[in-house]
Amino acid sequence: MASSLTPTKQPVAPPSKNSPASPPLLQIDSARLYRDGVGAEGIDRAEVEALAPELRRVHQAVADKSAGGLDAEFACLTLHNSMPPTLPPIEAAAEQLRRFEDIAVIGIGGSSLGAKAVYQALVEEPGARRPQLHFLENIDPRNLDVFIRNRSAEKSAVVCISKSGGTIETAIQYLILREWLEQQLGKDKARQHQYLITDPAQGWLRESATREGLASLPVPPRVGGRYSVLTAVGLLPLAAVGVDIRSLLAGSAANAARCVSEKASENPALELAALFFLLDTRRNKRVSIMMPYADPLQLFGDWYRQLWAESLGKRRGARADDPPAGTLPVTALGTVDQHSQLQMYLESRRDKIFSFLAVDRREPDPRIPLAEHDRKYFPYLDGKRMQDVLEAELQATRQVITETGHPNMTLRLPRLDAHVLGQLIDLYQRATVYAGLLYGINPLDQPAVEKGKQLAIRLLGGGR
Ligand code: PA5
Repeated sequence: MASSLTPTKQPVAPPSKNSPASPPLLQIDSARLYRDGVGAEGIDRAEVEALAPELRRVHQAVADKSAGGLDAEFACLTLHNSMPPTLPPIEAAAEQLRRFEDIAVIGIGGSSLGAKAVYQALVEEPGARRPQLHFLENIDPRNLDVFIRNRSAEKSAVVCISKSGGTIETAIQYLILREWLEQQLGKDKARQHQYLITDPAQGWLRESATREGLASLPVPPRVGGRYSVLTAVGLLPLAAVGVDIRSLLAGSAANAARCVSEKASENPALELAALFFLLDTRRNKRVSIMMPYADPLQLFGDWYRQLWAESLGKRRGARADDPPAGTLPVTALGTVDQHSQLQMYLESRRDKIFSFLAVDRREPDPRIPLAEHDRKYFPYLDGKRMQDVLEAELQATRQVITETGHPNMTLRLPRLDAHVLGQLIDLYQRATVYAGLLYGINPLDQPAVEKGKQLAIRLLGGGR
């Protein structure tokens, strides 16, 4: 990890270590998470060194439990190896989907947030492109109504995604859209507008696919919802709109290759997990704020929020008085939230860690046009582009956050493309699993979510 920047030096990113031939790598600047970068609220390098035996333990556990491809407990961390041979049917289905204008993607939580984040990051002007993805997600009736009223069934497809195959929000939307397709097109033709992604063998959705002979793809049983963006769950809708899914997987592989060491200083995901774990357990940092300075990364924050919260928000033992794990993930957007949240960040509780995300190359990047009478008021904007201002605002926010003593890190994306997004996905999935193991909890389950799902069914009069 690049940890040589001093907190107040401006404004140049650390030099890239990429070779000219290889795709550029994420730059991860963790310097301000340490005491020597941010002051007393940061972590001593000696504390990370003292954690080395634990880091070795969790690294070994990840290595052991990742072996075995799709059958491994941590199959989610080797999808860059196990998915490529399974891509042809995904690519074939994506090709078929391209004949439609509108694709309703139905799914919730892990069955939606990953594809939604990558779609926002990589597909410019989604409204102007065909096909267009519509992530319906919630069961708020207005969403579905607006979709149905404004689309032609003839030109629409439904991609229904549910690993369990029975999540109530997803099932309801599917039932309504299936009826709409059948009423508009007739049952036989409607079948050709439906694509189901679910467990390969069981559940209501799998049974529907088999009974009706619908196009379907499997969710690998050992890959949980919030870790599934690199399976058909994310890959099918993304491939349908032209995202380079092989490059997404290659990016994930590139990050995995940076994370083979058991030493935090040589493994960015392990370092991130170690520092966030120590900041929580030793410095009482309970809130983790992800603040991209790029609109296309806003929904990446939502994906991270679910991954981190649902994986780590657990009790560290079976007893009610066992301590809780996990920092509360919060999303913010630069510069917008400078004008909304920054006051609280600077003067309220010192319980926060910040992750700034920035993109190095953006195009188009218009020059700010100044007439003589404007220049008088904004002389410092002369010759500047929008990205110059965004960068200066990031630097300024980071500096005041650092001077206030809040630990913070910066992830620089060399550009917005599938390879870099793949790296980012692997970095956070891997760091989340490492962090879960450091806390001594299972980062893959979500018992409380399941409880909520069951209770809602009971309240609706269901028997279980
Ligand atoms: O990460 C998870 O496991 C959850 O967020 C699920 O993705 C979410 O509850 C949807 O579940 P399913 O895909 O089974 O419909």
